[in-house]
Amino acid sequence: MNKNVKIFSGNATPNLATSIAQSFGQPLSRQQIRHFSDGEISPKLQESMYGTHAFFVQSTLAPSDHLMTLLLMIDAAKSAGAAKITAIVPYFGYARQDRKDQPGVSIAAKLKAQLLMTAGIDHLITLDLHSPQIQGFFDCPVEHLEGTRVFQPYLTQLQLKNLVFAAPDIGSVQKARTYAQYFQAPMVVCEKQRSAANQIKTMQLIGHVRGADVVLIDDIIDTGGTICKAAALLKAQGARSVRVCCTHPVFSQNAIKNLLQATFDEIIVTDTIPQAIQHPKIKILTVAHIFAQAMHQSIS
Ligand code: R5P
Repeated sequence: MNKNVKIFSGNATPNLATSIAQSFGQPLSRQQIRHFSDGEISPKLQESMYGTHAFFVQSTLAPSDHLMTLLLMIDAAKSAGAAKITAIVPYFGYARQDRKDQPGVSIAAKLKAQLLMTAGIDHLITLDLHSPQIQGFFDCPVEHLEGTRVFQPYLTQLQLKNLVFAAPDIGSVQKARTYAQYFQAPMVVCEKQRSAANQIKTMQLIGHVRGADVVLIDDIIDTGGTICKAAALLKAQGARSVRVCCTHPVFSQNAIKNLLQATFDEIIVTDTIPQAIQHPKIKILTVAHIFAQAMHQSIS
């Protein structure tokens, strides 16, 4: 056990935080997350922090209290004299608001980066950001881990015969191409146009999938609208099987019901966002070990 290292869990991803700490090789540090009667959050670190390297594990999924909790914990560590503070944010929420694509909107991902730095982080470790350029919003080092490290070995052991990778929208083309190159397989693109956030106007396929074992690649399944529409399109175009590899299972609204009703052979996600569902078609791969490895590298 490295006494100089403290690992704290926020309240969004306690199971993943426990697995990361186990994989790193030491228990979670002691803390309390208390609330005032109106819901105000009041975390308390119950460790001696002076001179330590403090790691805080918290996915910043909705509600925004999860982000606030993380900010308060970081602030507590900073004011208690921690020498280095690393935020481990497996799912970095608000990442889809990463640009000013219309008048009057916020670049929320940039604001969030500024909030984390103001609170006191020296380093961020995260996974499959919605767009890699979000790293540029930080003035501190960002370790951007990739879900390919768990998805590629899983797909390899499936030994799919006519593998074709599919991007469910233009934003996912680069990710799908990475897989296509690794497996030396073809790729296709579903060209999606939205009428509003979470609402799809049209989708058409660029490429051929007749008889193929298709794997869709995406970073987020939110309502499931994108991926379900893509699966239906791919099946209608003759795909033999359709799977999806998606890092962050946000699963809002009726996503799970819609996904299970859609024509998927398998839905493969990671544990960056906790899920209560257990279903033979939903495979959850842990990313704990890749975060633990990054932690070891950051202290060596
Ligand atoms: C979009 O750019 C993302 O990569 C996902 O495709 C999107 O957020 C998924 O949203 P939904 O599941 O609501 O269609």
